[in-house]
Amino acid sequence: MLHLKNYFNESEQQALVELTRNIAKTNGGMTIPVMPTGSKFNCSQTSCGLVGWLSDRHGYRYSKINPQNNQPFAAMPAELVEIAQHLAKLVDEPNYQPETCLINFYAAERKSKMGLHQDNTERNLIPCIISISLGDDCIFSIGSNRSRKDPVTDITLRSGDVLILHGETRLAYHAVKKIVPGTSPLLKNNGRLNLTIRQVY
Ligand code: SIN
Ligand code: FE2
Repeated sequence: MLHLKNYFNESEQQALVELTRNIAKTNGGMTIPVMPTGSKFNCSQTSCGLVGWLSDRHGYRYSKINPQNNQPFAAMPAELVEIAQHLAKLVDEPNYQPETCLINFYAAERKSKMGLHQDNTERNLIPCIISISLGDDCIFSIGSNRSRKDPVTDITLRSGDVLILHGETRLAYHAVKKIVPGTSPLLKNNGRLNLTIRQVY
């Protein structure tokens, strides 16, 4: 795991927020998906790129079509492709293909979070997962790649931080335990945005 603290400066963070807003607008907004169990996620989501990550009663999957507007997902902005390829090189993945970016928004006023899970919907489970945090601090738990019952370590992800799950940690269990409201001035109404870039195929 590679945690780059304060990797993006304030104006770069602002530019990433703007880019995210444009993606959400093109996609017809963000949605709060349901899990296969029927319970709702505690955050809202959208995606950009070749495919987007979806969750519903039928399970987790990637799709070329956004069910929100029955159109392809917004294209991955060139800036994000460049950022991802540069970051992947830092973990010795020079051929990384950023094919999708999942955008999660955790509202400050709700008890937004994400339960313990592995990122394993990708067809190819080798390339790294690149995560960018924007807005309020988040207490992020990370465990082993073997069992969800293994102990987890809590770290704080702050606005501008990058976390790369690669190698041994590519399939590590992880969770967003909580958002700490009011810890960043970046987003007008507080909350946290997370961009997770993935190579799927
Ligand atoms: C995720 O695991 O998909 C999101 C992680 C995060 O919000 O930091
Ligand atoms: Fe995840």
